[in-house]
Amino acid sequence: MQEIIEQLEKKRAAARLGGGQKRIDAQHAKGKLTARERIELLLDEGSFEEWDMFVEHRCVDFGMAEQRIPGDGVVTGYGTINGRMVFVFSQDFTVFGGALSEAHAEKICKVMDHAMKVGVPVIGLNDSGGARIQEGVASLAGYADVFQRNVMASGVIPQISMIMGPCAGGAVYSPAMTDFIFMVKDSAYMFVTGPEVVKTVTHEEVTAEELGGAVSHSTRSGVADLAFENDVEALLMLRRLYNYLPLNNRERPPVRRTDDPADRMDLSLDTLVPSNPNKPYDMKELIIKTVDDRDFFEIAPDYAKNIIVGFARMDGHTVGIVANQPLVLAGCLDIRSSIKAARFVRFCDAFNIPVITFVDVPGFLPGTAQEYGGIIKHGAKLLFAFAECTVPKVTVITRKAYGGAYDVMSSKHLRGDVNLAWPNAEIAVMGPKGAVEIIFREDKNDPDKLAARETEYKERFANPFVAGSRGFIDDVIQPHETRKRICRSLAMLHNKKLENPWRKHGNIPL
Ligand code: HXC
Repeated sequence: MQEIIEQLEKKRAAARLGGGQKRIDAQHAKGKLTARERIELLLDEGSFEEWDMFVEHRCVDFGMAEQRIPGDGVVTGYGTINGRMVFVFSQDFTVFGGALSEAHAEKICKVMDHAMKVGVPVIGLNDSGGARIQEGVASLAGYADVFQRNVMASGVIPQISMIMGPCAGGAVYSPAMTDFIFMVKDSAYMFVTGPEVVKTVTHEEVTAEELGGAVSHSTRSGVADLAFENDVEALLMLRRLYNYLPLNNRERPPVRRTDDPADRMDLSLDTLVPSNPNKPYDMKELIIKTVDDRDFFEIAPDYAKNIIVGFARMDGHTVGIVANQPLVLAGCLDIRSSIKAARFVRFCDAFNIPVITFVDVPGFLPGTAQEYGGIIKHGAKLLFAFAECTVPKVTVITRKAYGGAYDVMSSKHLRGDVNLAWPNAEIAVMGPKGAVEIIFREDKNDPDKLAARETEYKERFANPFVAGSRGFIDDVIQPHETRKRICRSLAMLHNKKLENPWRKHGNIPL
């Protein structure tokens, strides 16, 4: 028996050593943690239950029969984050560059299958050179098995990807189908193919960082939602995000008690919006001053900054926030902001997270760049997302709500449950100046007459009361009571039940 125990310990030690001390040192020298160190930081201390530590690959080609490392390049299992269950897989770059073999894929599939069975999220810590080249089609099959599970799990359990090393080829497509992608600056890359192939095919010279680094993907492509300075910061922020999410689509998100009173007033909000309607202000100030404890977890803060999305809590309950940002492009909706917000709204809807929408939008961004880029189709994504969303929806119009963008931004007409407006809100087909220039074209050479028309238009339409008189706005509220009114609305909506008609699936304009 003693001998068997010693053998077991020997095997465990070999598995823990992965690709060996030299490669572990190389990993550390790059500023990266090992697969196991990452799991330790992500999960509650001592909570990790590892599975499949003794799994080995079955490849015999290219001398692989002599190179078997227990665990085969991925550490899998489950544990807890602040006491709440989570499944994880963490790819070990020290073993064949974290490349995915058939056996490696089977380990990932096993945790995904269990996660689905018990209704618990999956977090993937990705650090992989893609398909294991020595295994050929067997590793491609392994990838496809993971992809299929990603798709089946979408909207059932939250899936989060943390990119912590080079991820090429197949290694990027599994994360691409998960709910959130985070990356670590300077050490994580995502590309379908690397700089060398790019040079051969397109003659472009580009560094790995420029092509697929954390900054490129969190600011230019929008593939990554957040970029972090290092592994430690990334994993700690992932723990923070986890606290907002439910374990699955049949559960409500967790409630965190707060000492921040639900009826707290903030008088400074009464002067947030400048009297000049063309002057911007920072919508984040409103968000921070409205949510519990000023605690806002922003998603994709550096991409499509004209819209803000993220998680917060109201009276302890998780909410998703969607808000136009007047500081950037005057808060216009464009292609990128529509896609960003649509995806966020759909996540909230899938996982029972109420959506609060703060509106200050002068319309869709005009121009050929937007039209040729397909703003009609992409803007429709946000419209579609808000319209099909059945979770509680509370909307506050802080200033402009013009044209189609008024309709889109969780209006009453798209089944907004509670729609409020500040007294200075302007709800109309378009801004006063543009409107009078069109409907009073005959006065275009008479500035005095035009100014009088503008004043008349402002008095008649640029206010919340016309919409209020039709019931499209439930109430006009004082800015300082915004938190109280939202909290009350959410409490009233707590047991909201609304179902869309049965269908295989809708056909969102992709
Ligand atoms: C097997 C691999 C590997 C792979 C890396 N290694 N990638 N082994 N299959 N795909 C091994 C290396 O041989 C090396 O082994 C160790 O991992 C570390 O790799 P290095 O190259 O030394 O590290 P580094 O310089 O940091 O470069 C990392 C890298 C590079 C950028 C990931 O290794 C690379 O470009 N690899 C190939 C990426 C790729 O083209 N993958 C296939 C994509 S196709 P030793 O023993 O020396 O430590 C694909 C198809 C799926 O994935 C499609 C599904 C849709």
